[in-house]
Amino acid sequence: MSILDKQKTIDDLRTKIAACTRCSLHETRSNTVPGEGSVDARIMFIGEAPGRNEDLQGKPFVGRAGDVFDKLLASVSLTRDDIYLCNILKCRPPNNRNPLASEIAACVGSLDIQIRTVNPDVIGTLGNFATSYVFEKFKLAPVKISQVAGQVFEVDTEWGPKKIVPVFHPAVATYNVHKIDELIEHFQAFKEFNLKTV
Ligand code: URA
Repeated sequence: MSILDKQKTIDDLRTKIAACTRCSLHETRSNTVPGEGSVDARIMFIGEAPGRNEDLQGKPFVGRAGDVFDKLLASVSLTRDDIYLCNILKCRPPNNRNPLASEIAACVGSLDIQIRTVNPDVIGTLGNFATSYVFEKFKLAPVKISQVAGQVFEVDTEWGPKKIVPVFHPAVATYNVHKIDELIEHFQAFKEFNLKTV
């Protein structure tokens, strides 16, 4: 797919997400948070769900977890311009509770379109929810993130081979500052690939 076609698909999806009423989260959201970044990125990161700041601004990872995420990206010489960044859920769950299975089921059609359209070589899954969904989607056996963070899993998909790299959710380091070293260590897995957008 050409970059222009990718951009059009992602722009159309953004419009559809903005009008989405497939689950009850539309009743409490201020804004949808569809995702952003380069539609031609070689790496996509998938988080869990928007928090308060993301809901207010309509952008992913703009709160404290976003500050941690930017540090992690910088530790492997990447910037947000090099990546595509989105979440499993496009609307904020009230009080930042965990996503419900029914909300995930209602929402992942959009994520599937994002994965298919951007068609990255590498997918970084941030935390348990993204890891579970992506592992199941690509028929990998379920894992505990604590046992596989920073490891590289290779899968063959109908859109070509991909590498999946699960890492802890950046919010972990906002609850426990000592976790940042471990997160940075796991993130070094991304250095192995040449992921800068040219
Ligand atoms: N946590 C997430 O998983 N996604 C965001 O966009 C912000 C915080």
